[in-house]
Amino acid sequence: MRRSASPNIISLLASMAVAIFSTAIFLFITAIFHLKINYNVYIINIFIIFLVTLLLFRFVLVRFIYSKIKIIYKTIGKPLKFQNEVKEGSKNVLKTVERDVAEWAINKNKQIRELRKMEQYRKEFVGNVSHELKTPIFNAQGYIETVLDSDLDDPAFIKQYLEKANSNIERLETIVTDLLEISKFESGRIELNKEAFDLVKLIKKVFFQYQHIAQQQKITLKCHSEENAVFVFGDSKRIMQVLENLISNSIKYGKENGHTDIYFHDLEDQYLVEIVDDGPGISSEHLPRLFERFYRADKSRNRKINGTGLGLSIVKNIIEAHEQTINVRSELENGTTFSFTLQKYIPE
Ligand SMILES: Nc1ncnc2c1ncn2[C@@H]1O[C@H](COP(=O)(O)OP(=O)(O)O)[C@@H](O)[C@H]1O
Ligand SMILES: [Mg+2]
Repeated sequence: MRRSASPNIISLLASMAVAIFSTAIFLFITAIFHLKINYNVYIINIFIIFLVTLLLFRFVLVRFIYSKIKIIYKTIGKPLKFQNEVKEGSKNVLKTVERDVAEWAINKNKQIRELRKMEQYRKEFVGNVSHELKTPIFNAQGYIETVLDSDLDDPAFIKQYLEKANSNIERLETIVTDLLEISKFESGRIELNKEAFDLVKLIKKVFFQYQHIAQQQKITLKCHSEENAVFVFGDSKRIMQVLENLISNSIKYGKENGHTDIYFHDLEDQYLVEIVDDGPGISSEHLPRLFERFYRADKSRNRKINGTGLGLSIVKNIIEAHEQTINVRSELENGTTFSFTLQKYIPE
């Protein structure tokens, strides 16, 4: 069957074939038996045969195609909106079906790929959680066992080991608290307390908090703002968490004698906040996964720096809960820039 054949054309061709075939048989019989015939009656007969077979073929074909198409549309779970076209035997029907089925197949493939990705992500996540929890548990256990195995007669020794055990348990607590926080965000259970607040003031507060660590690393923190105050609308406690994380990262992963600079860009309804450092940067292969839970860019180097790899995941969740966006740009040796948007506060 040609691709563009429609039920109408097929029935027309088939009934023409039947008419020609019956003419041939008729002529054959009249020739063999030397019959005398009235050609007018004969032509009317042929025409009636042609018409009846045409209608019959068309009826059967349309019924057959309609029943098949109905099953196809039930299978792909789409409403069949063109019954009339099917019943009229239109040529476009089969093309429409072909297109709808192809669309359905593409969608299914996409869903399967996404499910596979989620499955892979879930497996990695379970592996990461177990790994991250195992290390501090194992360490704390080791310190406590050492104390238990000792003669218990040296208080300084006992204190030192219990402190080490304690700091591992504190790390465990941090991981579990962060995980619970992420899961609350992801299931939409976090409510934001939005208010108008001054971002510059908040940044200065965070700078003050990290001044000491920055000084140790000889890193200069600077907030570049043309205005004395930049008023935004959001949950100030949550935005403080975002700033704490991004600023502490810029110090933690920054270089000695480096700089962390904060800039604001006035977009129409929003501010774009940029946190720029001149540290070692992050290579491009890590950037797409940086906001994933537990993802750490430079595993060997990072292990020396205390971190869980959960910070940026929380940051992204907070920004997205505000219906804003966050991005990262970075180049090895050239520093890193995190930029996020916040809704401007416009007094009525
Ligand atoms: N400013 C930065 N410069 C270089 N690397 C960074 C910076 N910020 C984040 N990273 C990389 O991204 C990873 C994820 O950061 P984060 O989620 O805050 O986890 P953590 O700080 O607990 O390691 C870090 O481990 C680090 O490798
Ligand atoms: Mg961090």
